[in-house]
Amino acid sequence: MSQLTFPANFLWGTATASYQIEGAWNEDGKGESIWDRFSHTPGKVLNGDTGDVACDHYHRWPQDIALMQELGLQAYRFSISWPRVQPQGRGRVNQPGLDFYSRLVDSLLAANITPFVTLYHWDLPQALQDEGGWPARATAEAFAEYAGVMAQALGDRVKHWITHNEPWCASLLSYQIGEHAPGWQDWPAALAAAHHLLLSHGWAVPVIRQHSPAAEVGITLNFTPAYPASSSQADLTATRQFDGYFNRWFVDPLYGRHYPADMVADYQKAGYLPQGLNFVCSGDMDVIAAPTDFLGVNYYTRTVCRDEQAEDNLPATLMADLPRTEMDWEVFPQGLYELLNRLHFHYGPRKMYVTENGVSYSDGPDGAGRVADERRVAYLQAHFAAAHRAVQNGVPLAGYFVWSLMDNFEWAKGYSQRFGLVHVDYQTQTRTLKDSALWYRDVIRGSVNIWGA
Ligand code: FCB
Repeated sequence: MSQLTFPANFLWGTATASYQIEGAWNEDGKGESIWDRFSHTPGKVLNGDTGDVACDHYHRWPQDIALMQELGLQAYRFSISWPRVQPQGRGRVNQPGLDFYSRLVDSLLAANITPFVTLYHWDLPQALQDEGGWPARATAEAFAEYAGVMAQALGDRVKHWITHNEPWCASLLSYQIGEHAPGWQDWPAALAAAHHLLLSHGWAVPVIRQHSPAAEVGITLNFTPAYPASSSQADLTATRQFDGYFNRWFVDPLYGRHYPADMVADYQKAGYLPQGLNFVCSGDMDVIAAPTDFLGVNYYTRTVCRDEQAEDNLPATLMADLPRTEMDWEVFPQGLYELLNRLHFHYGPRKMYVTENGVSYSDGPDGAGRVADERRVAYLQAHFAAAHRAVQNGVPLAGYFVWSLMDNFEWAKGYSQRFGLVHVDYQTQTRTLKDSALWYRDVIRGSVNIWGA
C-alpha cells in the first residue's frame, strides 16, 4: 500500500445540473423547457416527480455556496438553464435569468471556487422543441447564438466552458429510447439529433473563444465501456456494436474520424438511416472536429455484452460478482482506469477532466442526524485510486468532479435516487453533510490518505 498524491494543481470539485437542482421552473421570466413539459406529462417520471421545486437552489444558492466552502471545493460544475436566459430559445434575452448566473459566478469566485459552466444539460427550450428539437438543424444554429449570449455575459469571469453534457443521452436516450425528454422513439430522428448536437458544439467553440479569451473549452461525453460476456464471435460483435453505439459514435467525429464506418453500415442494414447520412452537410465534420482544450469524461459503470439471440453461443465466462448500486449499475473502478487510458492513447485529448463520477445509495440521516454512507466513500476511494493509476501512466487528467454536490432530481427516476455528498430533505429543504462529504473535504485538504494497492 502506498499513499496516492495527485498533481499539485489537480482540481477537486462537484457537479450539478440546472433542471436537477434549481426549481423555480416558471419564475422571473423563465421559459418552459422540454423537461418541464415531460415531467408534467403523467407517466413519464417515476412517482410523478417534477423539477418544479427540486432543491430550490434558485433561491438557496448562497447557502449552497456556503456548503461548497465548508467542503473546501476547488471547482464547481453547474449548468445554465437555456430557457431561463432565452425563454424562446433564440432572440430576446431574459435579464433576470442572466443575472442569476452572473451572481452565482461572482459568489463562487469570491469563495475561491472555480466555475465550470455547462451550456446544455438537457433542458432545451420547449419553443425549440415545438419547431422540431434537436432533429432539426435550426436548433444547432440557435445553440450557437445562445453560446454567444452566455460567453458574452460571463466570459470575462468564467474560464472553463463545457458545451454539451452527454450527447448520447440528449439524442439516443431522448429521441430513440424515449426515456428522457421529449420521449420520442425514432431512430433516424435520434441520429440526426446526435449530429446536430455535435455540430452545435463545433459552432459554439469559436464563439466562446471569441468572447472568453484564454478560456478552456471542451465537451463532456458519457462513456460506458463494453466488455464481452464470452470470447464468442457473437458476443464480440455485440461488444463492438454497443461500443460503437454508445461511445465511438460521439468521440470519433470529435477527434476528426467521422462517424464509425462499421456503425454506419450496421445502421443502414437495420433501416435506421433510410436517407443515409443526409443530415451531414459539406464541412460539418470539420466543424465538429474543432480543436478543444479538454475532454470531459463522465464514468459510472461498464456494460457486459451478451448476444442473447445467438444460437450455439459459448457460455458466458465474464460473470464477476461485483456489487451493484441502487441504479443497478455494477461497481467497476477498473473501467475508469482502462477508459482514461484508451481515450489518452487512442484519441489524445490535450487534457481530461472526470466531469462526473459518483453513486446512488439512499442512506439517510440516523436518529442523531448522521448519514453513514460508507459505501459511497468506498466507491469514491476506489475510483480516485483508479484515476490516480491512469495519471501515473501519463494520462493528462486535470481534475475530478463528484456527481453530485447534493441529492437531486434524477431525471426519469425522480427523487428515488440519491447521488449527493449532501443529503437533501425535500420536505424541509434541509441539507445534511453525509459522511462521504466530510471524507471528501479531508481528501481535498490532503488530511486523509487515498490508498492505492
Ligand atoms: C448522468 C447525468 C447526470 C446525472 C448522472 C447520474 O448521466 O449527466 O445529470 O443524472 O448521470
